[in-house]
Amino acid sequence: MLIVIKERKSVRTYLEKDLTEKDLKAVKQIVKKYNETKGYFGHEVKLDFFDKPFVYTPKKAKIGTYGFITNPPSFIAGCVDNSFYGMVDYGFIFENMILDLTEKKLGTVWIGGTFDRHTFDFMHKDHEIVPTITPVGYEDADHHSSKEDEVRERVHADRREPFDKLFFNNDFDTPLDETHAFAKALNYVRLAPSTDNKQPWRILVKDHDVHFYLERTPAYGESLDFDVQAIDMGIALSHFVKGLEELGLKFKVSNDFVNIKLPDYEYAFSVKVSS
Ligand SMILES: Cc1cc2nc3c(=O)[nH]c(=O)nc-3n(C[C@H](O)[C@H](O)[C@H](O)COP(=O)(O)O)c2cc1C
Repeated sequence: MLIVIKERKSVRTYLEKDLTEKDLKAVKQIVKKYNETKGYFGHEVKLDFFDKPFVYTPKKAKIGTYGFITNPPSFIAGCVDNSFYGMVDYGFIFENMILDLTEKKLGTVWIGGTFDRHTFDFMHKDHEIVPTITPVGYEDADHHSSKEDEVRERVHADRREPFDKLFFNNDFDTPLDETHAFAKALNYVRLAPSTDNKQPWRILVKDHDVHFYLERTPAYGESLDFDVQAIDMGIALSHFVKGLEELGLKFKVSNDFVNIKLPDYEYAFSVKVSS
């Protein structure tokens, strides 16, 4: 298994320590690598890095995380077109970036709800939004705040749905066998982070086509001005693609699959794997 997929977890308590010169350089390089790149659905993600004391000189931006995050030395914020596939592209790119940061042993956490979004209004045009930010720093594993422990417990952060509740073969009544050729890549999806750990991805494998559906949590995210569960779908795609690449499989991503109408599942996109 890819170590980064296994090791990534949400870090909400950081050591009171600035990034070292070496890590600062690495973070800036990673941000540069993903900044202004496009996802599979053509949306560009713009990223900005904010080092301590979180002041962006032209606008004097102060980042508020309402006590959910302790001692963050720096942040990355991203912005994208505010549409379903904009969010899918965002989830894909931002998660790829988070996995690169994890590889550098840096702690991160997706934050979509618990921060002062207006701080970042200067980053985006009218049709865009800053859906999430992440702190970047070193985990302080010995001093987790009580708020952090509460959040992890409330969402059962360490738990994931079993394989047979998420992945299906040919139709949604038939669970996929765990020995399937794509099982490794699907297990990477299982380990993906999602909003409130809702794990809304439902995946239907039909021969070499892998169709990603979203099982929405009813009335969820209504207070937000963007489709947060579409981001979860993009994150799932990031993990699946990492798995396919590891398996040495070639593939195409599209959203042109003629949808089987399903009452509870919303079609998102397909990955067509070449044999
Ligand atoms: C799009 C998105 C938004 C999130 N927003 C928040 C947030 O506002 N506050 C927070 O504490 N955690 C947030 N999380 C983190 C999830 O709660 C976390 O990923 C999940 O519980 C699984 O835990 P793990 O990341 O440690 O595997 C968010 C995650 C995602 C994917």
